[in-house]
Amino acid sequence: MYQLGLIGYPIKHSLSPWIHEEFLKKSELEGTYSLIEINPDHSFQEAVTELKNSNIDGFNITVPYKQTIIPYLDVLDSSAEKVGAVNTVVNRGGKWIGYNTDGIGYVRSLEGAYPNLFVGNKSDKRILIIGAGGAARGIYYALLTNGFDQIDIANRTAKSALDIAKLKEDSTKTNVLTLEEAEASIKQYDVIIQTTSVGMRPDTKASIVALTTLKEASIVSDIVYQPLETAMLQQAESLGAEIHYGHTMLLYQAQYAFEIWTSKQVELGNMEDELKRILEG
Ligand code: ATR
Repeated sequence: MYQLGLIGYPIKHSLSPWIHEEFLKKSELEGTYSLIEINPDHSFQEAVTELKNSNIDGFNITVPYKQTIIPYLDVLDSSAEKVGAVNTVVNRGGKWIGYNTDGIGYVRSLEGAYPNLFVGNKSDKRILIIGAGGAARGIYYALLTNGFDQIDIANRTAKSALDIAKLKEDSTKTNVLTLEEAEASIKQYDVIIQTTSVGMRPDTKASIVALTTLKEASIVSDIVYQPLETAMLQQAESLGAEIHYGHTMLLYQAQYAFEIWTSKQVELGNMEDELKRILEG
């Protein structure tokens, strides 16, 4: 009987219980996935102590606690350490081990949709990441560990993009661009990954850069999934590019977390379509 859960605030509308309950069913495991909402007005330490005294086997952590949890862990996996944030904890015999499955989940979702991108020489593929927050950092690191090394980062604030570029020992192939520079050089990229919240409801008309000069065969990916088809993805589609939806990252980061907890890799099957239907109401 697996006892799993999610800590964060606010989490009432989280899709994680649905995802992990589906995974439990698919893998024929008994278990529960509960929402453990910790109001920022309350003591985080107290909540964690309570959790340590429970029989929890593993849990996810979301905003605003992805960094707050780190001092309470016994071991930090290397990618969580590089990314500086934890979204998954497993309890192994009373020791808490922290992972970050967001970046790897994102890369798995990209590979699931575009397997050819992962075949052959990855140094031929030019990638642009837009944004330089936690999500961008995880995605950049996971792409690097998958062998992609021509990754540029465009951000409103150069400093955070430069910090991410430091994750690469030889940073010569990572250019840090302004959003204006990125817009002017959009045609150079095979994959464009939008990682900021721009375009999210309610401001659904917003798009962080215009894709006017996009080359037809490129892939445009947006991690925003509310709405599912952001203004940026709509523009990409109208220009004949391939598009990659944000909700798939949600499923694959959960798939990897579930693997850490149970050692079972669940087939997603039609969950992408089901989640799409849920999100579209
Ligand atoms: P997350 O952890 O989800 O990635 P975050 O750390 O808050 O979120 O990062 C948000 C990213 O979106 C940052 O790159 C931010 O740019 P700055 O570094 O300049 O703050 C970017 N971002 C958010 N709103 C933006 C806007 N209106 N225009 C441009 N960039 C924006």
